[in-house]
Amino acid sequence: MNRRKFFDLLVQSLAITGVSAITLAGLFPALFSKKRSIHKVVLGTEEELFSDNSYIIKHIDQQTFIIKKGKDGSIEAFDAACTHAGCPVQWNDSKNSFLCKCHGGVFDANGSPVSGPPKKPLNKVNLMKRNQTQEIILYLDNSHS
Ligand code: FES
Repeated sequence: MNRRKFFDLLVQSLAITGVSAITLAGLFPALFSKKRSIHKVVLGTEEELFSDNSYIIKHIDQQTFIIKKGKDGSIEAFDAACTHAGCPVQWNDSKNSFLCKCHGGVFDANGSPVSGPPKKPLNKVNLMKRNQTQEIILYLDNSHS
């Protein structure tokens, strides 16, 4: 094998390896992504959480979450970090909106941007209610933090 053939073979091998890695990463993203773990946080029962207010604020692992009960009775949890530049948003019950004081961003009750600089919705956090105890549990995915 001459030098030219060896070099061509080397380039082809590297190209095949690169394409294979990209294909595998697409098919099995968990293999190539940061280690993922779901962190469960038991918040309490609906009655305990919303006895005084329609929303609560929870600080967990240096993150702030807003858990609110909608007018239809649905319960949703949001990461309070504004999607514009990360300032904490606040829930305003009378305006039925999340407000960000840093640059005037406004999000609707579903976390969708309404006005101001934010273009992306607030990040929702999965939650569920335990059947037996009726406790509300947050499921925090640490692969994004
Ligand atoms: S950080 Fe919220 S509007 Fe800029």
